[in-house]
Amino acid sequence: MKFFIDTANLDQIKEAQELGVLDGVTTNPSLMAKEGISGRENILKHYVDICNLVDGDVSAEVISTDFDGMVKEGEELAALHDQIVVKIPMIKDGVKALKYFSDKGIRTNCTLVFSVGQALLAAKAGASYVSPFLGRLDDISTDGLQLIADIRLVYDNYAFETEILAASIRHTMHVIDCAKLGSDVMTGPLSSIEGLLKHPLTDIGLEKFLADYNKGNS
Ligand code: E4P
Repeated sequence: MKFFIDTANLDQIKEAQELGVLDGVTTNPSLMAKEGISGRENILKHYVDICNLVDGDVSAEVISTDFDGMVKEGEELAALHDQIVVKIPMIKDGVKALKYFSDKGIRTNCTLVFSVGQALLAAKAGASYVSPFLGRLDDISTDGLQLIADIRLVYDNYAFETEILAASIRHTMHVIDCAKLGSDVMTGPLSSIEGLLKHPLTDIGLEKFLADYNKGNS
């Protein structure tokens, strides 16, 4: 399973990279705004800064919602760095753009996916990644994990190569559940990755080992 971090914060990206388990980064316009990054030039520069920090794919989202605009923006984003994956929303012109980029060998991440039908369409259009937003489904009392399981089943039925990128991960149990369901990738906050580290028996065990060592060596 690949681990992506879902942030535009350079310090957090650096911290995750230093842990040695990071495979990529996803961003979106809200995450860029949260970091105070605005204006086309600044946004493009920030994508390059992120690419220079990580070894892996960096999703950069288009703002246009029409086919021509998405193509123009996507080509500009893809030209920034070979790690860039163009993030395209699951709308009608987005599906056309996914197909266009797939034919051109430009990698894409289809975002804002909330149903199996949308995921099927994204795969048919040649998306490299599909991003089902499981946390946002959970927020409205709908089973986000069931969507991951259903997409896995459909993709396996037809050997689609599109990778399932479980998005809108809110906590560590989401990461573990997505791994059990065979999600190819997860993207979440740094806390969801660091939570995997924690177990009280590890802390108690380590404390005892060190105390016993110190008894014999003091
Ligand atoms: C995915 O690529 C999105 O950036 C993200 O996972 C959305 O998560 P949220 O629902 O926590 O905003």
